[in-house]
Amino acid sequence: MASSSPATTFLRSSPPYNHRSTTIKCTSSQVPTTTLDNNSHAKQPSLKPFTAKYVPFNAVTDESHSLDEIVYRSSTGGLLDVQHDMEALKQFDGKYWRNLFDSRVGRTVWPYGSGVWSKKEWVLPEIHDDDIVSTFEGNSNLFWAERYGKQNMKGMNDLWVKHCGISHTGSFKDLGMTVLVSQVNRLRKMGKHLVGVGCASTGDTSAALSAYCAAAGIPSIVFLPANKISMAQLVQPIANGAFVLSLDTDFDGCMKLIREITSETPIYLANSLNSLRLEGQKTAAIEILQQFDWEVPDWVIIPGGNLGNIYAFYKGFKMCQELGLVDKIPRLVCAQAANANPLYLHYKSGWQNFTPITATTTFASAIQIGDPVSIDRAVYALKNSNGIVEEATEEELMNEMAAADLTGMFVCPHTGVALVALKKLRESGVIGKHDKTVVVSTAHGLKFTQAKIDYHSNAIEGMNCKFANPPVEVKAEYGAVMDVLTKYLNKAS
Ligand SMILES: Cc1ncc(COP(=O)(O)O)c(C=O)c1O
Repeated sequence: MASSSPATTFLRSSPPYNHRSTTIKCTSSQVPTTTLDNNSHAKQPSLKPFTAKYVPFNAVTDESHSLDEIVYRSSTGGLLDVQHDMEALKQFDGKYWRNLFDSRVGRTVWPYGSGVWSKKEWVLPEIHDDDIVSTFEGNSNLFWAERYGKQNMKGMNDLWVKHCGISHTGSFKDLGMTVLVSQVNRLRKMGKHLVGVGCASTGDTSAALSAYCAAAGIPSIVFLPANKISMAQLVQPIANGAFVLSLDTDFDGCMKLIREITSETPIYLANSLNSLRLEGQKTAAIEILQQFDWEVPDWVIIPGGNLGNIYAFYKGFKMCQELGLVDKIPRLVCAQAANANPLYLHYKSGWQNFTPITATTTFASAIQIGDPVSIDRAVYALKNSNGIVEEATEEELMNEMAAADLTGMFVCPHTGVALVALKKLRESGVIGKHDKTVVVSTAHGLKFTQAKIDYHSNAIEGMNCKFANPPVEVKAEYGAVMDVLTKYLNKAS
């Protein structure tokens, strides 16, 4: 949908968190009064305003909480979910929403140029634009993995990799953190006593939290398991000025501590137990549909650890179906490292009683989690999307990561886990050659260079690094260089 107004008047002209809100009139014949400003429709007295609140996750109860309350769990200790007033959103049809979202892509209009805030009405409808803390996250590349699909996935021709890790802090966590930190910014401006924001992290959450807090001038406190995250991940919160605690435990131990500490102090909890983050993360699912011109893929494969993201994707797809943007949702696959596979074991048991495990070391370090906070959310998402859970061993995930890199990508080990899941489902014939399939790449490969260096140096004990490509050490002399080059060229031809 084209805008009829000149864009220049809508550019942010003052500092990010103090600008005036802006409005663009759209030309849609569907809804004559549509504007890019989400509040405009509420000015029409006959229309219900868009609102959202916390409710207990998947429970029949009257309990609800304002999003301005500081609450992470329901009164019975269960998970919370952000529930939107769907009746208010249904005042507009699917075509209206598709057009509105499409009209905002790639713009500089604050805050709608962000892939998250372009869906503001479905995310945090009541927040004022001035309170939003955004780095214009989202709008990530949906890469057609043509060569990889044909070569490595038995002739697949409709395989796509959603590069959520090519983003501000190098992982999909930016999508959720912009929402959470924006809400904290709002609460602090409202006078709520919050001295900072804290999280436990396997690396990427702390990087995103620190960056967004630094952008807004809010203190951040991060709990990291010592020696279990990559150097690139560790340096991010350090550089962004977070208070970094390196703890002699694993992620689950850090999580337990941060939950205790945030319940005793005015530090806001930023882990994905906090359902606000999932509101941002769900926009990646909407964005995939948008990038396919609202055609629904058959499969979406997501690496899972704490298991918030798999539910976020489900929620994004489901909202699009319920609000008439599409008529079905994809089947979801959650991919786990075999060394951190509690969901896989639960799935294999036919969803019998869930048992947490002690996760052991994996190159997919961000998903080394044995007691996932969002287990109930993940099971719900998988059951309601006819979903599947797969697992990948260390050798499988590292070889698949390297195989993808050989076709021009540079993916992280978590993406390797998801690619192994795809491979297994292709080999068993569950995923067909022509199925439209999206693999979600959750972090940038540059965060995991040490793992790649070890792999290509053949330095991983007990691993057959099938695609290792170590540099050839050669004397800086014409003859010596020609010798090795000739051998290489003969082999290649
Ligand atoms: C790179 C990466 N991939 C996957 C995940 C798993 O996401 P979730 O914990 O929501 O399952 C994480 C979470 O830390 C991550 O950082």
